[in-house]
Amino acid sequence: MLPELRLRITLFLLLAVDLAAAGELPVFREAPAFRNGRECPKTTPSTIHVAMTLDATYLRGSVAGVFSVLQHANCPENVVFHFLANHRRAELRRTILTTFPYLSFRFYRFDPNLVKGKISSSIRRALDQPLNYARIYLAELLPPAVRRIIYFDSDLIVVDDVAKLWTINLKSHVLGAPEYCHANFTAYFTPKFWSNPLFSTVFSDRNPCYFNTGVMVIDLEKWRQGKYTEKLENWMRIQKRYRIYELGSLPPFLLVFAGNVEGVEHRWNQHGLGGDNLEGLCRDLHPGPVSLLHWSGKGKPWLRLDSKKPCPLDGLWAPYDLFHHAPLFSDS
Ligand SMILES: *[C@@H]1O[C@H](CO)[C@@H](O)[C@H](O)[C@H]1NC(C)=O
Repeated sequence: MLPELRLRITLFLLLAVDLAAAGELPVFREAPAFRNGRECPKTTPSTIHVAMTLDATYLRGSVAGVFSVLQHANCPENVVFHFLANHRRAELRRTILTTFPYLSFRFYRFDPNLVKGKISSSIRRALDQPLNYARIYLAELLPPAVRRIIYFDSDLIVVDDVAKLWTINLKSHVLGAPEYCHANFTAYFTPKFWSNPLFSTVFSDRNPCYFNTGVMVIDLEKWRQGKYTEKLENWMRIQKRYRIYELGSLPPFLLVFAGNVEGVEHRWNQHGLGGDNLEGLCRDLHPGPVSLLHWSGKGKPWLRLDSKKPCPLDGLWAPYDLFHHAPLFSDS
């Protein structure tokens, strides 16, 4: 081996060890440029606003999500991403810039102190991360000019034109999402909640159904006017004191919106695909067409694919994985 090459390899190895120790963010391949078709309107009302959170743990999922939206949009240049992050914002911004050099996006600082005192521990630690609650603050964080937003979790891929979701008619509602009225709604709250009429009467004039907060279309104007952030925060305060539910940021949304949601076609949130990888339980798709696949639950497709024990549907996520599998890291 040439001494020069040997030196280079040594330096590279040292660097790699160094990066791993520093908890360096994953590195991604550069996504191609996605250009609008000729039929795409050029005026601002056709802009599609999408909000997602970014953090080190879910970055690979977020990047795949963005990639999937662009790949299936007829007018990808009309999509503007709004990224919310609390830690390591400069690094995350650099990752987005280098992975998607042509992307329209804005970065926002989500201050974890906004929610730290309001979070009570749930049955799953992953649900207690402050960033999980960022979706409650979209109306405050995004500029007033953004009047509608699609919120996407970081463990999903979109396999249809996001414009179809964007243009749904919310009618009089603040929020649109697929509803699941067969789910046992009682189970989302504790007996303490149901036995106290002060709390449980919140649903007395509604027919509440479960909905998943990982995919939501929100009218931010109505949200701001109706002070919905405060309404959600009020329930979080009640939770701190009385423990009226066991999960994280979902129950406050159910308390405020369930029964007042504009039902979106189920194809826009085929959720639960994460299942429970600790027990090797793989989920199947719900019957019907699919526009969005959502790996909610404990298992994440990138972890299962890396461990070489994927669920069958994880293969549908893999083509959107831009993670750069450097040979150096693959066997370590
Ligand atoms: C719904 O959940 C509650 C609380 O977990 C339980 O007591 C009840 O039996 C369930 N109802 C049905 C129809 O499964």
